[in-house]
Amino acid sequence: MPRKPVTLVTGAGGEIGHALIPRLAAASHTIITLDLKPLPADTAAFVHRQYTGDISATEAIGEIANTYKVREIFHLAALLSTSSERSPALAHKVNVGGTLNMLDLANEQAASQGERVKMLFPSTIAVYGLPDRKTKNEFARIKEHQWQQPTTMYGCNKLYCEHLGRYMARYSATKAVDFRCVRLPGLISADTLPTGGTSDFGPEMLHAAAQGKPYECFVAEDTRIPFMAMPDAVDGILRLMAADAATLTQTSYNIGAFNPSAAEFAQMVLAAFPSAQITYKPNPLRQAICDAWPADVDDAPARSDFGHYPAYDLRRAFDDYLVPAVRRRYGLDTGNAGR
Ligand code: SER
Repeated sequence: MPRKPVTLVTGAGGEIGHALIPRLAAASHTIITLDLKPLPADTAAFVHRQYTGDISATEAIGEIANTYKVREIFHLAALLSTSSERSPALAHKVNVGGTLNMLDLANEQAASQGERVKMLFPSTIAVYGLPDRKTKNEFARIKEHQWQQPTTMYGCNKLYCEHLGRYMARYSATKAVDFRCVRLPGLISADTLPTGGTSDFGPEMLHAAAQGKPYECFVAEDTRIPFMAMPDAVDGILRLMAADAATLTQTSYNIGAFNPSAAEFAQMVLAAFPSAQITYKPNPLRQAICDAWPADVDDAPARSDFGHYPAYDLRRAFDDYLVPAVRRRYGLDTGNAGR
């Protein structure tokens, strides 16, 4: 029997997977997933088959390779930046070893299919490392080639994997992996919360306020990094994957949207939830990580090469997406509950 053509999503149980998988299903992808844990029911409903296993091991991957014709890979599995600082060896194993396994799978699948296999790799603002505040202010909107001196295990892992992907796509013997990478800013979803990231203070502040819980922010009020609403991140990923290869001038692209300071973010939260209690107690490790990240990204190549323009600026993200959706999520839709 011919092998069924499928799209593989790794780390499918994470935040991006939760938002991306329904969109892929709506676009008629037959989706198989690989995650450490079984998927939540709302994601599983869109999935043809889920594999439970370790991305840095090869058992499940071998079974997938023998069973399916993998046409596209969305390789979302990773440990985020704070988790990676806490367990650097594990981070390297998962973030680098897992990506190598996916590049191998894509390469082998391309060889057996006689066609390139597309692989989406979500990278990060953590690939940048600004040495001090003066430089951070000076290079306010950072371009892809600037300051690629990561200060975290996560940033090192992601930057190295970007290079591996570029090598596989352009210089290896086969050039069979059509590797496409977006460098994502901090993501904010109304439906899910991140775990183990350093941009988590944004979404945590919002979700705490909506639940009437006090929030102690782990970075200082003047900390400024780029953020993006989850629907724009998914749009960016899908646009990049849909682009004609001939229009793509690079393998890694910044995508950006807005970049409030922690205090400006808190103002937006307070405007929606006036009784929110937000205090600041910077955690030295997490503050240092944010201080080395750029204040904003220059995403001109993403705009010109694959037409990605974010739909949500800060105000629209709060007014049209985050606040209505978190109010629904926490049952605040009636009257002034939660205020
Ligand atoms: N959101 C990620 C993190 O905080 C950055 O890519 O680790």
